[in-house]
Amino acid sequence: MITRRRFLQGAAAFAASAALAPVTRALAQPRFAADPFTLGIASGYPHASGMTLWTRLAPRPFAGGGMPGSPAQVQWEVAGDEGFRSTAAQGTANASPEWAHSVHVDVNGLEPERPYWYRFRSGGAVSPVGRTRTAPLSAAAASRLRFAFASCQQYEQGYYTAYRHMAREDLDLVVHLGDYIYESSWGRNHVRAHATDEPYTLDEYRGRYALYKSDENLQAAHAAFPWVVTWDDHEVNNDYANDRSQKLDPRDEFLARRAAAYQAYYEHMPLPAWARPRGSDMRLHASVAYGSLARFFVLDARQYKSHQVCPRPERGGGSNVVRDELCAGRLDPALSMLGREQERWLYEGLGRSGARWNIIAQQTPMAQADRRPGPGADYWTDGWDGYPRARERLLTSIQSQRVSNPIVLGGDIHMAAINDLRIDFGNEKSPAVATELVCPSISSQGPSQKRVELLMQENPHIKFANGTRRGYTTVDVTSKRSVVRIRTIGSEKELDSPIRNLAIHAIEDGRPGAERV
Ligand SMILES: [Fe+2]
Repeated sequence: MITRRRFLQGAAAFAASAALAPVTRALAQPRFAADPFTLGIASGYPHASGMTLWTRLAPRPFAGGGMPGSPAQVQWEVAGDEGFRSTAAQGTANASPEWAHSVHVDVNGLEPERPYWYRFRSGGAVSPVGRTRTAPLSAAAASRLRFAFASCQQYEQGYYTAYRHMAREDLDLVVHLGDYIYESSWGRNHVRAHATDEPYTLDEYRGRYALYKSDENLQAAHAAFPWVVTWDDHEVNNDYANDRSQKLDPRDEFLARRAAAYQAYYEHMPLPAWARPRGSDMRLHASVAYGSLARFFVLDARQYKSHQVCPRPERGGGSNVVRDELCAGRLDPALSMLGREQERWLYEGLGRSGARWNIIAQQTPMAQADRRPGPGADYWTDGWDGYPRARERLLTSIQSQRVSNPIVLGGDIHMAAINDLRIDFGNEKSPAVATELVCPSISSQGPSQKRVELLMQENPHIKFANGTRRGYTTVDVTSKRSVVRIRTIGSEKELDSPIRNLAIHAIEDGRPGAERV
């Protein structure tokens, strides 16, 4: 799980610092039998004067973490240079057993729009060094922003070869759109195994995160750039909606499971303190600004969503496809993907945003996708197609508020796509009001190209689609245009598979819709 090289690096750092640190040891710090930084380090949620730093002490990651039932002090340090000669900020955080000895440090007082390096120490051990970056000041016009977005990383179905390449890119930010872990084992031709059963309890979810986060390529992508994150269903349970599980578990039981899953998610992500969960509730939607160039709206379309309409008998979830004549409820305007409160927050934020590019980062594809070849239509009710009036509200709000350059990011379907978002998808003359970019999955298996081509024939607003390749998408944002590169590897079954551009599209300022370049 942890490669020999990484283990040796950790062990060397551990030995060196243990020899050098008699003073810190006197502070009644924990002593570790092994490197406690096995799950890596991360940064997230950059702003003009700081970001959040994350790590979790886990000397025995696959045996509950291997920490005592008492808190441990963790020193953190941010420097303006890779060699840590100029310290920019430092402090001590408390890693408590209640939060799996994770630390979330909200750093402030840094300078805008520049790189920083960070590391942690505890009990004589030193973490690897991470690189991060502050955002430009809100009023300042950054000239360029380059970000990647990714989703869907079923651990068993492939290596994180895509992250290995992502870590070598030149990025300001990574946006993760969910399915960071999978609770269940599925798919074919596994290259590695979960080795434990589906998680239900807090300890079980912690174990699943420890497994995923032990991957050195995922760790490298976290250590290289700040991330912002949102979840989809598999962080808890396939196709769950709000308080309802796919198997219709008793509500209290499912909310207890959701509380465990949300807490483990928080414990393993570089999330600011404001996201710390309370019971089964956790605030995740957020807005992140890059000067006047771009603003991200990161949405949570799981926690507050209306239950999916017309489920299969005795089932929750939306894993069925329905025909409109059999499911009139789909068109009910009372249905919401985000919940009314988050909808209001989003529309207000979009209206107030002075950014040139407004990027809505969320879980599932937004464009209508009729899956039935020929006349009639079949829709997947778990995604936005199950909530068409809510989608119409959002796109109408974008249009009526004249939101500048709206881009919607989506994941979930293990298929890269570039779509025009229209208020009326049935009418080809209805203008595109926003551009949708759906990333390929990091490792999760996707649909065959035959199915994808049928989908494109049925849905002319899908301008590009590919479900056979794994990877991520990068976007280069400047004031004049955004250049979109779908970056895919040859095979997720090989760690040294090269990466290439599967497609390059550009979105021009003031003109929704991406064109191939
Ligand atoms: Fe997925």
